[in-house]
Amino acid sequence: MGSNPTFPRSIRAGVMLQRTPETFEAGALRGEVRVVGDKSISHRGLMLALLARGTSTIEAPNRGADVLATRDAIVQLGATVREEGDAFLVEGGTLRDPERTIDARNSGTTARLLMGLCAGNGLTARFDGDESLRRRPMERVARPLRAMGASVETHAGRLPAAVRGLADSPGGEFALEIASAQVKSAILLANLNARSKVRITGDRFSRDHTERMLRHFGRTIVFDGRTIELEPGTLTARRVRVPADLSGAAFFVAAAAITPGSDLVVRDVGINSTRTGFIDALRAMGADLTVADERDVDGEPVADLHVRYRPLTATRIDGELVVRAIDEVTILAVAAAHASGTTQIRDAADLRGKESDRLTTIAQTLRACGVVVAERPDGLDIVGGTAHRPDGVLQTFGDHRIAMAIAALAAPSGPHQIDDRDCIAVSFPDFVERWRATQA
Ligand code: S3P
Repeated sequence: MGSNPTFPRSIRAGVMLQRTPETFEAGALRGEVRVVGDKSISHRGLMLALLARGTSTIEAPNRGADVLATRDAIVQLGATVREEGDAFLVEGGTLRDPERTIDARNSGTTARLLMGLCAGNGLTARFDGDESLRRRPMERVARPLRAMGASVETHAGRLPAAVRGLADSPGGEFALEIASAQVKSAILLANLNARSKVRITGDRFSRDHTERMLRHFGRTIVFDGRTIELEPGTLTARRVRVPADLSGAAFFVAAAAITPGSDLVVRDVGINSTRTGFIDALRAMGADLTVADERDVDGEPVADLHVRYRPLTATRIDGELVVRAIDEVTILAVAAAHASGTTQIRDAADLRGKESDRLTTIAQTLRACGVVVAERPDGLDIVGGTAHRPDGVLQTFGDHRIAMAIAALAAPSGPHQIDDRDCIAVSFPDFVERWRATQA
C-alpha cells in the first residue's frame, strides 16, 4: 500500500453536482435511434492518439463528461486536440509531464488507464477525481505498475495518487488479479515501450477494446479472452470511427423488450463479444431481439439491433456472462423485474465498486417500485412481475446508469420521477431527448 501523498487543497476535484429532477413517462419505444458513441472506445482512441506520432481522427466520439476528462488529460500530457465536425483531431507523439493534477472527475477509465500510460512513458503525474471516484479502488492498478518498477503512491489505496513512470519497461509476464479491462489496459499502456514481449494471463473475457485498438494502431498483439501477448513495436496514427455504445443502447433495448407495443431499431451498435453479455442474457429471458447487418468498423464489430416487446421469463446471470455485461447488470435487473419467475444474479461483487454500489442502489430502486429483491454479497434475487409506480421521487445516487435504468423501468409502468438528471451527462449527454423521441 502506498504512503499518502499530500495534495494542495486547490486541486480538490469534487465538483458541486447540480440536481435537476426529471420525469420519465410510460410509453412504448418505436422507430429508430442512434445512441451516444462508445465510451470505452473513445477513451482508448484519445489515449493511443496521444502516443502515436502524427494526426489521429476520432470520429463520432462519446462526448460525455468522462471522455471529456480524458480529452483534457491528454492535452495536459502533450497532445493537441482540435474539433472538426463530429470528430476529435489529435496531434500526438510528444509527451510532457502535466503541470497540474489530472482531474479524472467521475471516470475510473480515465484515472486507471492514464496511470498505466504515465507509468510506462516516463511521465510524472498526479491524479484525482470527484467524491465518487475517490471512493473507488486504485490499488488493483497500482500493484502491477509497481511490480514493473514504476513508483505509484495512492491515498490508502484510493485517489489522490501520484505516478512516477519509467521511460521503458522490461516486459515479461503479468497475472491479472481480477478480470478487469481497466487493469489489463493499464498494464498494456504501461508496457508499450517494453524491451521484450509482454504476456498477460488470467483474463476472463473482459472487454478487449485496448487490444483491438493497439492492433488498429499497428501493433502486433494476440489475444483470446484469456491471455494477451504484445510484441515490442511502435504506434502509427489512425482514423477511428467510434460505434454507438452498447451500454447506452441497452437502456433502449431493455425498455422496448419489456414495454407492450414497442418495436425499435438501434443503429450502428458495437457488438464486440466481450460486451454482449447483455444481449445473451436478454435473449435467454426470451426477448425478441435480432442483430442485423453485422460489419467490421476499424477492428470492432458493429450491427443494428431490432427489438420488439415479448413477455420475458427469469434467468440466471453469473460467471463470465457478468464480466461480459458488467455495466449492464443494472438494466438487466430492470428486465428481471418484468420477467416471470426469480432471476438470480451472482459473481457480481465488483459492482459494489462502480460509480455507486450498484447491487445496493438498483435493489433500492426496484424495491421503491414494489419489486421483491434479495441482496446477496455478490448478487441479487429479483422476483419478476411486481413492478409498479413508486410513491415518491427515485434517487439516482449520482450514478448515470441508475438514472437511465429508471427511465427503462418507467416505460411499462411510469411515470417515474428522478432526483437528478444531470448525472446522465457522464456517459450520455442527450439521453433524455433521444429517449423522448423514441416514445413520441
Ligand atoms: C471499462 C471497464 C469496466 C467497466 C467500465 C469501463 C473500460 O470496468 O465497468 O465502465 O472502459 O475499460 P472494470 O475494468 O473495472 O471492470
